[in-house]
Amino acid sequence: MKQLIIRQEEPREFQEIYDLVKVAFQTAKVADGNEQDYVNILRASSNYIPELALVAEADGRIVGHIMLTKTYISRADSKFEALLLAPLSVALEYRNRGVGSKLVQESFRLAKKIGYSAVFVVGDPAYYGRFGFKSIALFGIKHDPPIPDPYVMAYELTTGALSEVTGTCNFYLPKN
Ligand SMILES: CC(C)(COP(=O)(O)OP(=O)(O)OC[C@H]1O[C@@H](n2cnc3c(N)ncnc32)[C@H](O)[C@@H]1OP(=O)(O)O)[C@@H](O)C(=O)NCCC(=O)NCCS
Repeated sequence: MKQLIIRQEEPREFQEIYDLVKVAFQTAKVADGNEQDYVNILRASSNYIPELALVAEADGRIVGHIMLTKTYISRADSKFEALLLAPLSVALEYRNRGVGSKLVQESFRLAKKIGYSAVFVVGDPAYYGRFGFKSIALFGIKHDPPIPDPYVMAYELTTGALSEVTGTCNFYLPKN
């Protein structure tokens, strides 16, 4: 891998991204097989943030992809806007070379720059723990319907961002 470029996704590569996500999740520990369609659903929703849908490009092809979309932590009287990291995909031949980590770190840098303070993810704590993600239970936030602890995690882009936030989240389908 000569050079790795992380940049915003472009419409002309949506099919290439679809194929990448589909193949990447064939080897995921947990997958429902529809992650590539989920990308299209998120893109078509009002939760889509083009600046936070990134590709990793190397050797003239797309080798990784990440999406951070709007999500909300709800309480009876309030709604806190945050980000959902999903999905994250790296091509098989490019794994364990830091591509996933670079996509996560760059998406966080950009997210912070445009004013977001927290990111949520549903995934393996063994992987996401390295970025500082912690179980939402520690923040007093619940997923509704329940997903077993500690698979739903949160990361504060700004220290203390979630200290006053309680309520429920639902990451199953984007709300339009
Ligand atoms: C998970 C994934 C994005 C990681 O991409 P990557 O570019 O290989 O990640 P990085 O190179 O930044 O990090 C690799 C490290 O993460 C570890 N790792 C990867 N997947 C892991 C998992 N599910 N659980 C625990 N550790 C994991 C590797 O063992 C490696 O560890 P090391 O740094 O100690 O050697 C990639 O494996 C992938 O696309 N998987 C299929 C889709 C998927 O599961 N996406 C995440 C949804 S939760």
